[in-house]
Amino acid sequence: MVAALLSSTAIAQAEDVEVLHWWTSGGEAAALNVLKEDLKSKSIGWIDMPVAGGGGEAAMTTLRARVTAGNPPTAVQMLGYDIQDWAAEGALGNLDAVASAEGWDGVVPTALQAFSKYDGHWIAAPVNVHSTNWVWISKPALDATGGKAPESWDELVAVLDKMQANGITALAHGGQAWQEATVFDGVALSLGADFYKAAFVDLDPAALGGEKMAEAFNRLIKLRSYVDANFSGRDWNLASAMVINGEAGMQMMGDWAKGEFLKAGKKPGVDFVCIRFPGTQGAVTFNSDQFAMFGVEGEAKQSAQAAMASSIMAPTFQSAFNVVKGSVPARTDVPNADFDDCGKKGMADLAEANGAGTLLGSMAHGHANRAAVKNAIYDVVTAAFNGQYGDGAAAAKALADAVEAAK
Ligand code: GAL
Repeated sequence: MVAALLSSTAIAQAEDVEVLHWWTSGGEAAALNVLKEDLKSKSIGWIDMPVAGGGGEAAMTTLRARVTAGNPPTAVQMLGYDIQDWAAEGALGNLDAVASAEGWDGVVPTALQAFSKYDGHWIAAPVNVHSTNWVWISKPALDATGGKAPESWDELVAVLDKMQANGITALAHGGQAWQEATVFDGVALSLGADFYKAAFVDLDPAALGGEKMAEAFNRLIKLRSYVDANFSGRDWNLASAMVINGEAGMQMMGDWAKGEFLKAGKKPGVDFVCIRFPGTQGAVTFNSDQFAMFGVEGEAKQSAQAAMASSIMAPTFQSAFNVVKGSVPARTDVPNADFDDCGKKGMADLAEANGAGTLLGSMAHGHANRAAVKNAIYDVVTAAFNGQYGDGAAAAKALADAVEAAK
Protein backbone atom coordinates (compact mmCIF):
# COMPACT_ATOMS: atom_id res chain seq x y z
CA MET A 1 0.00 0.00 0.00
CA VAL A 2 2.69 2.45 1.08
CA ALA A 3 4.86 1.35 -1.82
CA ALA A 4 1.98 1.83 -4.24
CA LEU A 5 1.29 5.26 -2.81
CA LEU A 6 4.92 6.23 -3.02
CA SER A 7 5.27 5.14 -6.57
CA SER A 8 2.12 6.95 -7.66
CA THR A 9 3.39 10.10 -5.92
CA ALA A 10 6.68 9.67 -7.71
CA ILE A 11 4.91 9.44 -11.03
CA ALA A 12 2.77 12.50 -10.26
CA GLN A 13 5.88 14.49 -9.41
CA ALA A 14 7.77 13.22 -12.39
CA GLU A 15 5.07 14.61 -14.64
CA ASP A 16 5.32 18.06 -13.17
CA VAL A 17 7.45 20.63 -14.86
CA GLU A 18 9.48 23.05 -12.81
CA VAL A 19 9.71 26.28 -14.74
CA LEU A 20 12.26 29.01 -14.04
CA HIS A 21 11.20 32.39 -15.43
CA TRP A 22 11.20 36.15 -14.76
CA TRP A 23 7.59 36.91 -15.60
CA THR A 24 6.54 38.57 -12.36
CA SER A 25 4.95 41.89 -13.42
CA GLY A 26 1.16 42.14 -13.71
CA GLY A 27 1.05 41.73 -17.49
CA GLU A 28 3.71 39.02 -17.50
CA ALA A 29 1.97 37.03 -14.78
CA ALA A 30 -1.31 37.26 -16.71
CA ALA A 31 0.39 35.81 -19.78
CA LEU A 32 2.14 33.12 -17.75
CA ASN A 33 -1.23 32.13 -16.39
CA VAL A 34 -2.41 31.35 -19.92
CA LEU A 35 0.46 28.85 -20.12
CA LYS A 36 -0.15 27.40 -16.66
CA GLU A 37 -3.84 26.87 -17.41
CA ASP A 38 -3.09 25.30 -20.76
CA LEU A 39 -0.70 22.81 -19.17
CA LYS A 40 -3.14 22.13 -16.35
CA SER A 41 -5.80 21.17 -18.90
CA LYS A 42 -3.33 18.56 -20.15
CA SER A 43 -2.58 17.29 -16.62
CA ILE A 44 0.94 18.64 -16.63
CA GLY A 45 1.69 19.95 -13.13
CA TRP A 46 3.50 23.29 -12.68
CA ILE A 47 6.17 24.04 -10.11
CA ASP A 48 6.80 27.76 -10.20
CA MET A 49 10.33 29.12 -9.95
CA PRO A 50 9.99 32.89 -10.49
CA VAL A 51 13.09 35.08 -10.27
CA ALA A 52 12.04 38.73 -10.48
CA GLY A 53 14.06 41.16 -12.57
CA GLY A 54 13.17 42.47 -16.03
CA GLY A 55 15.36 41.25 -18.84
CA GLY A 56 16.22 38.07 -16.91
CA GLU A 57 19.74 38.73 -15.61
CA ALA A 58 18.83 37.66 -12.07
CA ALA A 59 17.07 34.57 -13.42
CA MET A 60 20.20 33.59 -15.32
CA THR A 61 22.30 33.93 -12.14
CA THR A 62 19.88 31.66 -10.26
CA LEU A 63 19.93 29.18 -13.13
CA ARG A 64 23.72 28.98 -13.04
CA ALA A 65 23.60 28.25 -9.30
CA ARG A 66 20.96 25.54 -9.75
CA VAL A 67 22.88 23.80 -12.52
CA THR A 68 26.15 24.03 -10.60
CA ALA A 69 24.39 22.39 -7.65
CA GLY A 70 23.35 19.53 -9.96
CA ASN A 71 19.67 20.44 -9.74
CA PRO A 72 18.56 22.06 -13.01
CA PRO A 73 14.90 23.06 -13.44
CA THR A 74 12.92 21.23 -16.12
CA ALA A 75 12.29 24.21 -18.36
CA VAL A 76 13.80 27.68 -18.37
CA GLN A 77 12.68 30.92 -19.99
CA MET A 78 15.70 32.00 -21.96
CA LEU A 79 16.85 34.44 -24.60
CA GLY A 80 18.97 34.15 -27.72
CA TYR A 81 22.65 33.46 -27.24
CA ASP A 82 22.13 32.22 -23.68
CA ILE A 83 20.28 29.23 -25.16
CA GLN A 84 23.20 28.53 -27.47
CA ASP A 85 25.70 28.82 -24.63
CA TRP A 86 23.82 26.30 -22.47
CA ALA A 87 23.53 23.97 -25.44
CA ALA A 88 27.27 24.23 -26.06
CA GLU A 89 27.80 23.16 -22.45
CA GLY A 90 25.73 20.04 -23.19
CA ALA A 91 23.16 20.98 -20.55
CA LEU A 92 20.02 20.92 -22.71
CA GLY A 93 17.67 18.11 -23.70
CA ASN A 94 16.55 17.23 -27.21
CA LEU A 95 13.14 18.12 -28.68
CA ASP A 96 13.69 16.64 -32.16
CA ALA A 97 10.96 14.00 -31.87
CA VAL A 98 8.15 16.44 -31.08
CA ALA A 99 9.58 19.08 -33.46
CA SER A 100 9.60 16.71 -36.40
CA ALA A 101 6.20 15.18 -35.58
CA GLU A 102 4.71 18.68 -35.55
CA GLY A 103 6.72 20.16 -38.42
CA TRP A 104 8.30 23.05 -36.49
CA ASP A 105 10.96 23.48 -39.19
CA GLY A 106 8.32 24.68 -41.61
CA VAL A 107 6.56 27.21 -39.39
CA VAL A 108 9.12 28.79 -37.05
CA PRO A 109 10.87 31.81 -38.63
CA THR A 110 14.49 31.04 -39.52
CA ALA A 111 15.71 33.97 -37.42
CA LEU A 112 14.27 32.20 -34.36
CA GLN A 113 15.45 28.73 -35.35
CA ALA A 114 19.00 30.09 -35.19
CA PHE A 115 18.48 30.16 -31.41
CA SER A 116 16.06 27.23 -30.91
CA LYS A 117 18.37 24.73 -32.60
CA TYR A 118 21.92 23.77 -31.81
CA ASP A 119 24.01 21.62 -34.07
CA GLY A 120 20.86 20.83 -36.08
CA HIS A 121 18.83 19.67 -33.05
CA TRP A 122 15.83 21.40 -31.45
CA ILE A 123 16.68 22.39 -27.88
CA ALA A 124 14.07 25.06 -27.10
CA ALA A 125 10.49 25.97 -27.93
CA PRO A 126 9.89 29.63 -28.85
CA VAL A 127 6.77 31.05 -27.22
CA ASN A 128 6.79 34.52 -28.77
CA VAL A 129 8.55 37.24 -30.67
CA HIS A 130 8.95 40.53 -28.84
CA SER A 131 10.57 43.61 -30.28
CA THR A 132 12.31 46.47 -28.57
CA ASN A 133 11.97 49.41 -30.97
CA TRP A 134 8.61 50.60 -29.69
CA VAL A 135 7.40 53.73 -27.93
CA TRP A 136 4.26 53.64 -25.73
CA ILE A 137 2.61 57.03 -25.54
CA SER A 138 -0.21 58.26 -23.31
CA LYS A 139 -2.99 59.35 -25.68
CA PRO A 140 -4.18 62.23 -23.47
CA ALA A 141 -0.57 63.45 -23.08
CA LEU A 142 -0.01 63.23 -26.83
CA ASP A 143 -3.29 65.03 -27.55
CA ALA A 144 -2.16 67.83 -25.25
CA THR A 145 0.86 68.35 -27.51
CA GLY A 146 -1.23 68.58 -30.68
CA GLY A 147 -1.93 64.87 -31.19
CA LYS A 148 0.59 63.93 -33.87
CA ALA A 149 2.77 60.92 -33.12
CA PRO A 150 6.45 61.69 -33.89
CA GLU A 151 8.00 60.11 -36.96
CA SER A 152 11.55 61.43 -36.78
CA TRP A 153 14.09 62.27 -34.11
CA ASP A 154 13.36 66.01 -34.40
CA GLU A 155 9.61 65.41 -34.08
CA LEU A 156 10.24 63.19 -31.07
CA VAL A 157 12.27 65.89 -29.34
CA ALA A 158 9.54 68.45 -30.10
CA VAL A 159 6.85 66.23 -28.55
CA LEU A 160 9.02 65.52 -25.48
CA ASP A 161 9.63 69.27 -25.06
CA LYS A 162 5.91 69.99 -25.21
CA MET A 163 5.10 67.26 -22.70
CA GLN A 164 7.68 68.69 -20.34
CA ALA A 165 6.25 72.18 -20.82
CA ASN A 166 2.83 70.73 -20.01
CA GLY A 167 4.12 69.80 -16.58
CA ILE A 168 4.47 66.02 -16.78
CA THR A 169 7.52 63.74 -16.84
CA ALA A 170 8.05 63.47 -20.58
CA LEU A 171 9.89 60.13 -20.52
CA ALA A 172 9.09 57.36 -18.04
CA HIS A 173 12.24 55.36 -17.47
CA GLY A 174 13.71 52.96 -14.97
CA GLY A 175 17.42 53.32 -14.30
CA GLN A 176 18.61 49.75 -14.79
CA ALA A 177 21.30 48.82 -17.31
CA TRP A 178 19.05 46.56 -19.37
CA GLN A 179 16.42 49.30 -19.65
CA GLU A 180 18.97 51.82 -20.88
CA ALA A 181 20.19 49.21 -23.37
CA THR A 182 16.60 48.66 -24.51
CA VAL A 183 16.19 52.37 -25.21
CA PHE A 184 19.54 52.29 -27.01
CA ASP A 185 18.34 49.49 -29.33
CA GLY A 186 15.78 51.95 -30.73
CA VAL A 187 18.11 54.94 -30.71
CA ALA A 188 20.81 53.06 -32.63
CA LEU A 189 18.32 51.55 -35.07
CA SER A 190 17.01 55.05 -35.81
CA LEU A 191 20.42 55.77 -37.37
CA GLY A 192 19.97 52.94 -39.87
CA ALA A 193 19.47 49.16 -39.88
CA ASP A 194 22.84 48.74 -41.66
CA PHE A 195 24.54 50.76 -38.96
CA TYR A 196 22.82 48.80 -36.17
CA LYS A 197 23.85 45.51 -37.78
CA ALA A 198 27.44 46.59 -38.36
CA ALA A 199 27.78 47.78 -34.76
CA PHE A 200 25.85 45.29 -32.67
CA VAL A 201 25.66 42.13 -34.75
CA ASP A 202 28.94 42.25 -36.67
CA LEU A 203 30.79 44.18 -33.91
CA ASP A 204 32.60 46.23 -36.54
CA PRO A 205 35.02 48.51 -34.63
CA ALA A 206 34.52 51.35 -37.13
CA ALA A 207 30.75 51.32 -36.54
CA LEU A 208 31.11 50.88 -32.77
CA GLY A 209 33.50 53.81 -32.41
CA GLY A 210 32.44 56.00 -35.33
CA GLU A 211 30.39 59.12 -35.97
CA LYS A 212 26.99 57.46 -36.10
CA MET A 213 27.60 55.83 -32.73
CA ALA A 214 28.67 59.21 -31.36
CA GLU A 215 25.37 60.61 -32.62
CA ALA A 216 23.46 57.67 -31.08
CA PHE A 217 25.05 58.42 -27.71
CA ASN A 218 24.30 62.14 -28.07
CA ARG A 219 20.65 61.20 -28.62
CA LEU A 220 20.68 58.90 -25.59
CA ILE A 221 22.21 61.65 -23.45
CA LYS A 222 19.50 64.04 -24.71
CA LEU A 223 16.78 61.54 -23.69
CA ARG A 224 18.18 61.50 -20.16
CA SER A 225 17.08 65.15 -19.82
CA TYR A 226 13.39 64.12 -20.06
CA VAL A 227 13.52 61.60 -17.20
CA ASP A 228 12.31 62.43 -13.66
CA ALA A 229 14.64 62.65 -10.65
CA ASN A 230 13.55 59.33 -9.11
CA PHE A 231 14.33 57.06 -12.05
CA SER A 232 17.27 55.26 -10.51
CA GLY A 233 16.62 51.53 -10.03
CA ARG A 234 12.94 51.81 -10.95
CA ASP A 235 11.44 48.63 -12.43
CA TRP A 236 10.23 48.83 -16.02
CA ASN A 237 6.61 48.06 -15.14
CA LEU A 238 6.55 50.97 -12.69
CA ALA A 239 7.71 53.20 -15.52
CA SER A 240 4.84 51.79 -17.63
CA ALA A 241 2.49 52.60 -14.74
CA MET A 242 3.58 56.26 -14.87
CA VAL A 243 2.37 56.44 -18.48
CA ILE A 244 -0.78 54.49 -17.64
CA ASN A 245 -1.57 56.89 -14.76
CA GLY A 246 -0.92 60.02 -16.82
CA GLU A 247 2.10 60.96 -14.72
CA ALA A 248 4.40 60.57 -17.71
CA GLY A 249 4.12 61.02 -21.46
CA MET A 250 5.83 57.99 -22.96
CA GLN A 251 8.02 54.97 -22.39
CA MET A 252 10.57 53.48 -24.80
CA MET A 253 10.27 49.77 -24.13
CA GLY A 254 9.68 46.40 -25.76
CA ASP A 255 6.12 45.29 -26.37
CA TRP A 256 5.91 43.49 -23.01
CA ALA A 257 4.92 47.04 -21.89
CA LYS A 258 1.68 46.56 -23.79
CA GLY A 259 0.88 43.70 -21.42
CA GLU A 260 0.90 46.21 -18.55
CA PHE A 261 -1.41 48.63 -20.37
CA LEU A 262 -3.84 45.83 -21.18
CA LYS A 263 -3.73 44.46 -17.63
CA ALA A 264 -4.69 47.98 -16.44
CA GLY A 265 -7.70 47.89 -18.77
CA LYS A 266 -6.22 50.42 -21.23
CA LYS A 267 -7.05 50.27 -24.95
CA PRO A 268 -4.69 50.96 -27.84
CA GLY A 269 -5.72 53.98 -29.90
CA VAL A 270 -7.98 55.18 -27.06
CA ASP A 271 -5.81 55.37 -23.94
CA PHE A 272 -2.39 54.80 -25.44
CA VAL A 273 -0.64 54.86 -28.79
CA CYS A 274 2.04 52.43 -29.98
CA ILE A 275 4.61 53.61 -32.50
CA ARG A 276 7.92 52.31 -33.68
CA PHE A 277 10.84 54.32 -32.29
CA PRO A 278 10.80 57.37 -34.60
CA GLY A 279 12.93 56.69 -37.66
CA THR A 280 12.83 52.88 -37.33
CA GLN A 281 9.62 52.01 -39.16
CA GLY A 282 10.43 49.10 -41.50
CA ALA A 283 13.05 47.57 -39.23
CA VAL A 284 12.60 45.42 -36.14
CA THR A 285 14.98 44.57 -33.29
CA PHE A 286 13.55 41.32 -31.96
CA ASN A 287 13.90 39.02 -29.01
CA SER A 288 12.14 35.72 -28.58
CA ASP A 289 11.38 34.10 -25.25
CA GLN A 290 12.03 30.41 -25.56
CA PHE A 291 11.67 27.56 -23.12
CA ALA A 292 14.90 25.64 -23.10
CA MET A 293 14.52 22.11 -21.76
CA PHE A 294 17.29 20.97 -19.47
CA GLY A 295 18.65 17.44 -19.65
CA VAL A 296 16.62 15.40 -17.15
CA GLU A 297 16.68 11.68 -16.35
CA GLY A 298 13.66 9.47 -16.83
CA GLU A 299 11.05 8.94 -19.47
CA ALA A 300 8.18 10.55 -17.53
CA LYS A 301 10.09 13.79 -17.03
CA GLN A 302 11.20 13.86 -20.64
CA SER A 303 7.69 13.25 -21.88
CA ALA A 304 6.43 16.10 -19.67
CA GLN A 305 9.01 18.33 -21.34
CA ALA A 306 7.87 17.22 -24.78
CA ALA A 307 4.23 17.78 -23.81
CA MET A 308 5.04 21.27 -22.53
CA ALA A 309 6.92 22.07 -25.75
CA SER A 310 4.04 20.76 -27.84
CA SER A 311 1.55 22.91 -25.89
CA ILE A 312 3.71 26.00 -26.36
CA MET A 313 3.92 25.47 -30.10
CA ALA A 314 0.19 24.93 -30.68
CA PRO A 315 -1.18 27.71 -32.93
CA THR A 316 -4.20 28.38 -30.69
CA PHE A 317 -1.97 28.70 -27.65
CA GLN A 318 0.45 30.99 -29.50
CA SER A 319 -2.45 33.29 -30.29
CA ALA A 320 -4.01 33.23 -26.79
CA PHE A 321 -0.70 33.75 -25.01
CA ASN A 322 0.69 36.51 -27.19
CA VAL A 323 -2.54 38.50 -27.19
CA VAL A 324 -2.01 38.90 -23.42
CA LYS A 325 1.80 39.16 -23.39
CA GLY A 326 2.11 41.98 -25.94
CA SER A 327 4.32 39.91 -28.21
CA VAL A 328 3.48 38.17 -31.50
CA PRO A 329 3.48 34.46 -32.36
CA ALA A 330 6.67 32.52 -32.96
CA ARG A 331 5.05 30.75 -35.91
CA THR A 332 4.23 32.21 -39.28
CA ASP A 333 0.83 30.48 -39.63
CA VAL A 334 -1.11 32.00 -36.72
CA PRO A 335 -4.03 34.27 -37.72
CA ASN A 336 -3.94 37.86 -36.45
CA ALA A 337 -7.71 37.96 -35.86
CA ASP A 338 -7.58 38.01 -32.04
CA PHE A 339 -4.84 40.66 -31.80
CA ASP A 340 -5.43 44.35 -31.14
CA ASP A 341 -4.11 47.02 -33.52
CA CYS A 342 -0.66 47.13 -31.90
CA GLY A 343 -0.42 43.34 -32.16
CA LYS A 344 -1.52 43.37 -35.79
CA LYS A 345 1.07 46.06 -36.50
CA GLY A 346 3.69 43.98 -34.68
CA MET A 347 2.92 40.97 -36.86
CA ALA A 348 2.93 42.99 -40.09
CA ASP A 349 6.16 44.81 -39.16
CA LEU A 350 7.86 41.51 -38.36
CA ALA A 351 6.89 39.99 -41.70
CA GLU A 352 7.99 43.15 -43.55
CA ALA A 353 11.35 43.35 -41.77
CA ASN A 354 11.95 39.66 -42.33
CA GLY A 355 11.43 40.12 -46.07
CA ALA A 356 13.53 43.28 -46.25
CA GLY A 357 16.53 41.91 -44.35
CA THR A 358 15.95 44.42 -41.54
CA LEU A 359 14.91 41.92 -38.87
CA LEU A 360 17.80 42.19 -36.42
CA GLY A 361 18.51 40.61 -33.06
CA SER A 362 18.08 42.88 -30.03
CA MET A 363 21.41 43.88 -28.50
CA ALA A 364 19.68 44.62 -25.20
CA HIS A 365 17.98 41.22 -24.98
CA GLY A 366 20.76 38.87 -25.92
CA HIS A 367 19.93 38.31 -29.58
CA ALA A 368 22.86 40.19 -31.14
CA ASN A 369 25.80 38.77 -29.23
CA ARG A 370 26.84 36.59 -26.33
CA ALA A 371 26.52 37.69 -22.70
CA ALA A 372 30.13 38.85 -22.30
CA VAL A 373 29.83 41.31 -25.19
CA LYS A 374 26.28 42.29 -24.23
CA ASN A 375 27.39 43.12 -20.69
CA ALA A 376 30.32 45.17 -21.97
CA ILE A 377 27.90 47.19 -24.10
CA TYR A 378 25.49 47.57 -21.15
CA ASP A 379 28.25 49.10 -19.01
CA VAL A 380 29.11 51.80 -21.52
CA VAL A 381 25.49 52.57 -22.42
CA THR A 382 24.51 52.98 -18.77
CA ALA A 383 27.56 55.08 -17.99
CA ALA A 384 26.75 57.30 -20.99
CA PHE A 385 23.12 57.67 -19.93
CA ASN A 386 24.30 58.73 -16.49
CA GLY A 387 26.58 61.40 -17.92
CA GLN A 388 29.94 59.74 -17.37
CA TYR A 389 31.38 60.72 -20.74
CA GLY A 390 31.88 64.27 -21.92
CA ASP A 391 30.03 63.65 -25.17
CA GLY A 392 28.82 61.00 -27.60
CA ALA A 393 32.19 60.70 -29.30
CA ALA A 394 33.91 59.81 -26.02
CA ALA A 395 31.21 57.22 -25.29
CA ALA A 396 31.59 55.70 -28.77
CA LYS A 397 35.32 55.35 -28.29
CA ALA A 398 34.74 53.70 -24.90
CA LEU A 399 32.23 51.34 -26.52
CA ALA A 400 34.63 50.22 -29.25
CA ASP A 401 37.32 49.60 -26.63
CA ALA A 402 34.98 47.71 -24.29
CA VAL A 403 33.66 45.44 -27.03
CA GLU A 404 37.15 44.74 -28.31
CA ALA A 405 38.21 43.66 -24.80
CA ALA A 406 35.13 41.46 -24.33
CA LYS A 407 35.20 39.68 -27.74
C1 GAL B 1 12.48 40.45 -21.78
C2 GAL B 1 11.59 39.30 -22.08
C3 GAL B 1 10.16 39.73 -22.04
C4 GAL B 1 9.84 40.59 -20.85
C5 GAL B 1 10.94 41.56 -20.47
C6 GAL B 1 10.79 42.27 -19.14
O1 GAL B 1 13.81 40.05 -21.79
O2 GAL B 1 11.87 38.82 -23.36
O3 GAL B 1 9.32 38.59 -22.10
O4 GAL B 1 9.47 39.79 -19.81
O5 GAL B 1 12.19 40.97 -20.49
O6 GAL B 1 10.83 41.39 -18.06
